[in-house]
Amino acid sequence: MKKIAVFASGSGSNFQAILDVVRTGELAADISLLVCDKPGALAIDRARADRVPSFVFQAKDYLSKEEYEKAILAELKRYDVEFIVLAGYMRLLGPTLLTAYQGRIINIHPSLLPAFPGKDAIGKALAAKAKWSGVTIHFVDEGMDTGPIIVQERVKLEAKETRESLQRKIQRIEHKLYPEILQMLLTQGDVIDDKKTRAY
Ligand code: GRF
Repeated sequence: MKKIAVFASGSGSNFQAILDVVRTGELAADISLLVCDKPGALAIDRARADRVPSFVFQAKDYLSKEEYEKAILAELKRYDVEFIVLAGYMRLLGPTLLTAYQGRIINIHPSLLPAFPGKDAIGKALAAKAKWSGVTIHFVDEGMDTGPIIVQERVKLEAKETRESLQRKIQRIEHKLYPEILQMLLTQGDVIDDKKTRAY
């Protein structure tokens, strides 16, 4: 079974959705590690409840991104992690992780990229009075939500749409779509079985 790490900074509802389908057997993966940059985040409690080890750090305790990413990489190696799933991890990845896991890192974003990248995509879609928004799952590169798109699903914004209602609609899609795409990628051997690109 493929060993994956989930990176989260906040509530971790997408992390939970992935844990749930692993438990039911719908997703054949081993969630080996949670990486979290926010001590106290709900995601850490979810990991503990499911007996998933977590590596919790604070960027301010390290001299640079390179230093904390080296620490993360050591943990990923320790657990033999093959694939990284970003789920609400609020940091750009640097070369240390991107090089080691080239083509093996995905992210989920609550808009139809390239529209509304970065923080508060839901608020930005409402402010722009967009007729449509949605969810994007994409491979991760060094940019802010710029990597190659894997899948998108649309959501229509109603005239009376609020931040809460839009967030609910988007999260309902996310929690179904992320496990499905993960299953697809993990069973598509060539995506992650090419050990030649593994640099660690
Ligand atoms: C999700 O909406 C995801 O698209 C974005 O961050 C949010 C994380 O939510 N990248 P949660 O922590 O999984 O509840």
